[in-house]
Amino acid sequence: MAKGTFYVTTPIYYPSDKLHIGHAYTTVAADTIVKYKAMQGYDTMFLTGSDEHGQKIQRKAQEAGKTPKEYVDAIVATFKSLWKKLGIDYDYFIRTTEERHMKVVQQIFQKLYDKGDIYKGKYEGWYCTPCETFWTERQLPDTGEKLCPDCGREVEWVEEESYFFRLSKYADRLLKHIEENPHFIQPESRRNEMVSFIQSGLEDLSVSRTTFDWGIPVPFDEGHVIYVWIDALSNYITAIGYETDEENFQKYWPADLHLVGKDILRFHTIIWPILLMALDLPLPKQVFGHGWLLTRTGKMSKSKGNVVDPVVLIEDFGVDAIRYYLLREVAFGADGAYSTEALIQRINSDLANDLGNLLNRTISMIDKYFGGVIPAAGPADEVDLDLQNCASEMIKKVEENMDALKYTVALEELWTFIRRSNKYIDQTTPWLLAKEEDKKERLGTVLYNLVEALRIIAGTLKPFMVETPYLMGEQLGIEELIRETEWEDLKEWGKVKAGVKVRKADPIFPRIDLEEYFEKVEKRKEKEMAIEKEDKKEEKELISFEEFSKVDIRVAEVLEAERIEGSDKLLKLQVDLGTEKRQLVAGIARHYQAEELVGKKILMVANLKPAKIFGVESNGMILAASNDKGELTITTVAKDISNGSRVK
Ligand code: ME8
Ligand code: MG
Repeated sequence: MAKGTFYVTTPIYYPSDKLHIGHAYTTVAADTIVKYKAMQGYDTMFLTGSDEHGQKIQRKAQEAGKTPKEYVDAIVATFKSLWKKLGIDYDYFIRTTEERHMKVVQQIFQKLYDKGDIYKGKYEGWYCTPCETFWTERQLPDTGEKLCPDCGREVEWVEEESYFFRLSKYADRLLKHIEENPHFIQPESRRNEMVSFIQSGLEDLSVSRTTFDWGIPVPFDEGHVIYVWIDALSNYITAIGYETDEENFQKYWPADLHLVGKDILRFHTIIWPILLMALDLPLPKQVFGHGWLLTRTGKMSKSKGNVVDPVVLIEDFGVDAIRYYLLREVAFGADGAYSTEALIQRINSDLANDLGNLLNRTISMIDKYFGGVIPAAGPADEVDLDLQNCASEMIKKVEENMDALKYTVALEELWTFIRRSNKYIDQTTPWLLAKEEDKKERLGTVLYNLVEALRIIAGTLKPFMVETPYLMGEQLGIEELIRETEWEDLKEWGKVKAGVKVRKADPIFPRIDLEEYFEKVEKRKEKEMAIEKEDKKEEKELISFEEFSKVDIRVAEVLEAERIEGSDKLLKLQVDLGTEKRQLVAGIARHYQAEELVGKKILMVANLKPAKIFGVESNGMILAASNDKGELTITTVAKDISNGSRVK
């Protein structure tokens, strides 16, 4: 019997790189809540996907020598394979490059334009080319210098035609909605942040670009592509059939929960609801912005080399240990640290010790005292009733906390019950009961109750873990029962049928030796590095003479040199190449004064394609040697030789 629908989404991730543990974090959290709601009888809809357009992806594809589509196809395949390994049961994986999405996004854009909520204007700002970021005057350093606040390089003033979305028009309505719906933005602290942000005044949002073309074209102005947020956010409605499958759309919209990281909470609690208001659509019931998963060296990033690859962790520790760790370690909403030590600690104490031992002890005793057959229960003692009572209390508390997305507390409650069950063994001392023939019935009751407790534990674990509940079921001979268990079944005591045979097997969570593990990781790293070195060597050996002779290296004499204004790295050089004079730009100003170069004979690549660096034409490249300490020297000739001589 369906209780109604429950629609949950994750962000659609950029396929610019492989996903890391941070992305896995959001997706596991979403998957867990969906599995929980499905167990409760909701008709669930779980959406994830990929956000495939934009300049960054276009450029990365170029660098890889692929078309953008080829590039994203390959990465999206790694997303899907990661989700499979993590046991993620999404109902639909949306790609923003799919036809249906692109068409509907164009319709949305058109609708907003016709309505007057999108208008054409001019985008102005300070642009940092290397970072591809626009900055407002206010965001530049207080010193008045025109430098990028991120990388410190020079920014340039750019004006670009762009379409704008009237965010400002809807600000009051949005504030009112937030006020009237206290659960709309969670957690609480972030809600307040968003409210002050809106109160400080919303600027209209630039929603198109003319500087690249890997995107959805503006339907009535082909020179423009729709810029990231309208394209990306709309996925939550295009995926369930907005404008294409009205019935399905009506069934699931509004979403019950958008799960996102705090980095994009603003987009989901300001731009997205305003977009929906402009489209006359109801707003999602809740947007939850969780915290950052950090490593000891800070936020994960490729360039820092501190990215944690979930695929490696799954291979090393198994999927359920990872899922458990992600949901158990850090309170959902807060920032937290990922560490492999803490992960191993959790595996050893919570999984191997508390849970694994309870299962092992129970099965061993049934084997030993009842030939492996689950005995029937006799009358209940006080201690038995207390165990039953703890079970039903636990289910209630797990429910309360899951409904508030407090995964950590929910799991804590479950583990309190697991430890309670271990204590039940110590209280009832089955090994003593086994010594007296007339205590056989009592012994049977105790062991039956332990199996019942384990059934409830396995059932409660079903949203959190994808293998363990069924492995437990297999060992207890009740796999089918566990598979069919719905949430309501956890509230009843006595579902296991006596007479079933248990199957003793290896521990479900073997203990991990911390030192051994880190040794293994070290060895693996060394091996990988050795392979990488070999690869590099091979690459280097692969250049042919023909390839080398394509490079035209010449001796040239520096005639003039001057600093390029506004740059502390660049010099503009005029050189004599024998038959002609050339101008080139060289990034050596930190190592050489302009004056000391004049008259020097240097080596330069003379057939390099011309380039504009810092607005200055450069027709060649001067050769210099540098090491990783940052030292640099230009190359010159050992004996005087005429300008223009070829280097071979
Ligand atoms: O922002 N800790 O995609 P994205 C926790 N395409 N969560 C993390 C994390 C970390 N260290 N790193 C990433 C985008 N995440 C857009 C979204 S939605 C319409 C468009 C998770 O690939 C977290 O959920 O940069 C964060 O919000 C998301 O990945 C960003 O993924
Ligand atoms: Mg991001």
